[in-house]
Amino acid sequence: MSMMRKVLLAGSTNPWLRNRATKTAFVRRSVSRFMPGEQIDDALRAAAELKPQGITTILTKLGENLTGVEEAEEVTTHYLDVLDRVDRSGLDAHISIKPTQLGLDLDRALCDRNLDRLIERADALGNFVWIDMESSPYVDRTIELYRRARARTARVGLALQAYLYRTEKDVESLIPLGAAIRIVKGAYLEPASIAFPKKTDVDANYFKLCRRLLSPDARKPGALLHVATHDIPLADRIAGYIRDQNVPSSVYEFAMLYGIQRGQQLRLAREGRRLRVLISYGEYWFPWYMRRLAERPANMWFVVRTMFG
Ligand code: FDA
Repeated sequence: MSMMRKVLLAGSTNPWLRNRATKTAFVRRSVSRFMPGEQIDDALRAAAELKPQGITTILTKLGENLTGVEEAEEVTTHYLDVLDRVDRSGLDAHISIKPTQLGLDLDRALCDRNLDRLIERADALGNFVWIDMESSPYVDRTIELYRRARARTARVGLALQAYLYRTEKDVESLIPLGAAIRIVKGAYLEPASIAFPKKTDVDANYFKLCRRLLSPDARKPGALLHVATHDIPLADRIAGYIRDQNVPSSVYEFAMLYGIQRGQQLRLAREGRRLRVLISYGEYWFPWYMRRLAERPANMWFVVRTMFG
């Protein structure tokens, strides 16, 4: 892992830096590259603009590690409203939540209850709830949360990180459930004792996990794979595997983040690739923004240009 990536990921959890940066005009300007705006209306507008391009969406409100029960209630009520608004808008837009936003750090039972409310509403409306994966101390609890939710509905999915050594086993244990899994490389600062430090190893594991999830014996009712990456050669390799093995289109989608590889997103959608774009919005964007910078340290040049632009 590069030094710049380590520094940016360490900075993502620094409260002092967060307070300073979120008030700085050029940082606020540069974040707009990855986020259409801070309000749900901005995200819905962006989703409506992508729809004619054949791109479906996932909406996520930024924020993590809440400190009070009322905040978890607010987030849950907000997402219930988002599900209703998506239904009225006729958009094909899932939602994606972080367990700590629903109160995982405060009270496990509260988090379960909040997730239940969301999956019940999503189920009734024919929509879908994704559960993001946060840093490694949350993995066990997040998988438990998912198992419990999956027992109630197939309209719920879970992100798993290819950089963790354990993920191969986690995938095996979830396959019998008919699980909807989003494979990502992983966005947090993790030690080499639990995560592949080398990008080539993460990429190799990513391909292996996707191939396993696309294999015929993994295609149980409810199974769905989200290939969530901007790594075009890797995504093309997986698309090649899908073609060669005649994998039915109902069992996978590709996914990317809003504002990253925009040109490629439009090209892939034009070529008929099933693509879903995750749109983030919200006021609490600092840690998420720092993780985006860390993914591509060249983004720092963009920030510097915005500073003088
Ligand atoms: P990689 O980092 O190898 O990038 C490949 C190429 O894509 C780069 O060379 C660059 O050209 C471009 N690129 C990537 N990131 C960029 C950026 N920020 N700015 C500009 N260009 C960029 N993580 C997690 O831990 N838990 C989660 O729940 C999720 N959820 C999630 C959902 C979706 C839909 C996506 C696409 C990603 C996530 N992630 C995530 C983030 C994920 O773990 C990972 O950090 C990023 O996707 C970057 O990795 P790539 O797979 O894109 O490859």
